[in-house]
Amino acid sequence: MSKTKDNKMEKIVSLCKRRGFIFPSSEIYGGFASCYDYGPLGVELKNNVKKAWWKTMVQENSDVVGLDSSILMHPKIWEASGHIEGFTDPLVDCKSCKRRFRADHLLEGRGIKPDLEVQREAPLDLTTIKCPECGGELTAPRTFNLLMKTYIGPVEDESALAYLRGETCQGIYVNFPNVLESQRLKLPFGIAQIGKAFRNEITPGNFTFRTREFEQMEMQWFCKPETAAKYFEDWRARRMNWYLKLGVDKDALRWREHAAGERAFYAKAAWDIEMKFPFGDGEWKEVAGVHNRGDWDLSRHSKFSGADLSVRDEVTKEKFIPYIVETSDGADRATLAFLVNAYEEVETRSGDDEAKHETEVVLRLHKDLAPIKAAVLPLSKKEPLSAQARAVFDRLKTRWQCQYDETGSIGKRYRRQDEIGTPYCITVDFETGTDQAVTVRDRDTMQQDRIKVAELSAYLTEKLAA
Ligand code: GAP
Repeated sequence: MSKTKDNKMEKIVSLCKRRGFIFPSSEIYGGFASCYDYGPLGVELKNNVKKAWWKTMVQENSDVVGLDSSILMHPKIWEASGHIEGFTDPLVDCKSCKRRFRADHLLEGRGIKPDLEVQREAPLDLTTIKCPECGGELTAPRTFNLLMKTYIGPVEDESALAYLRGETCQGIYVNFPNVLESQRLKLPFGIAQIGKAFRNEITPGNFTFRTREFEQMEMQWFCKPETAAKYFEDWRARRMNWYLKLGVDKDALRWREHAAGERAFYAKAAWDIEMKFPFGDGEWKEVAGVHNRGDWDLSRHSKFSGADLSVRDEVTKEKFIPYIVETSDGADRATLAFLVNAYEEVETRSGDDEAKHETEVVLRLHKDLAPIKAAVLPLSKKEPLSAQARAVFDRLKTRWQCQYDETGSIGKRYRRQDEIGTPYCITVDFETGTDQAVTVRDRDTMQQDRIKVAELSAYLTEKLAA
């Protein structure tokens, strides 16, 4: 990962490892390039991201239903989808150090928006661009297919060839008739799915931003062709609102429309939500996309499978292939975006010395996303505080993911919770036995409220929903 001025990204990566959000995969074997494991806090955070997406996309929309299709599918699906032919990136090699790069990324680094169609037909003129690592000469670009191959069964030949899905939406398209009939749905409606996708990326990197195994959160909206443009705008607004509602600064996000030559082979229109990440050139990078896929997918699957995927217009009785508006978010990329957006360093006084300051980290994660909602902190490890604090923890743990921490000074324990984004710290002190109350500290306002133990659940319910 390239260094930035204030090393913010390095600090986030280090925090993720130290506090158990994200670990490098297979670390005791020296790691496995660009693969990551979500630790105890990371799995809570990413699950909360997925839960928040599902709530907005499925639970709150009576016209969107869920699906969980398999990763391995009939290989013909990838022919029909166009991925075997068109899911390629232009690859260049350095003749000296043998490193590989994506030609389009090198051009983008020079401020040139590459035209992917032109690249496929005629090699890019990269003669003026040298290897960014060693300055060596680069080869002419060649196309490289991103689908990951595997073999089903004991014989590894062409007849056993299958692919790990390159995008989750194909599982939705091939289930369109099943969902339509079993749910007695009428257009327009959506099918949503969260799941793993795999791409043999040439240049993965920048932590979890671009990996070869990742999770997508995709929704496909099936509608009449003449309504697709309107729904496209509708879903664009709704997807941007999701990031804003979950606390990403308005100024940190922007829309970017793909130019005609840049669009994926299936897209009639494509817009990305972009955010600035503190790595590489620090420039705007894709977080999510909204695509008008037209009738490409269902037409192709009709043709390749022989199944009739058209629907009948209720008024004119004419058959037509529905258009698809797709919203496509990465669960890992969104999680990284929320982490980057939430990371804040604050200066605090160190001990009693006015002149001494320390830098502390506060993860200002939205409460819905915070991995731990409340931490219970007894002022002493001894009885009766320990039993009182345990009773408070037992009361809360059935409702929320909570932590119990009795080690170190109370200041240290607050800092530990701030660093992982816990919105509320609950201190059980020497008065608790007498007034049956605890002190609740708010991560962001630092305000402390004295709350009766009997009223604590109601208090937190209200606060966590605010
Ligand atoms: N079905 C459309 C589709 O897959 P995409 O722009 O290729 O569109 C959608 O991917 C989203 O999936 C991206 O905006 C990003 O959030 C995530 N994504 C794609 N490739 C990724 C990778 N290699 N690593 C992590 N996330 C990725």
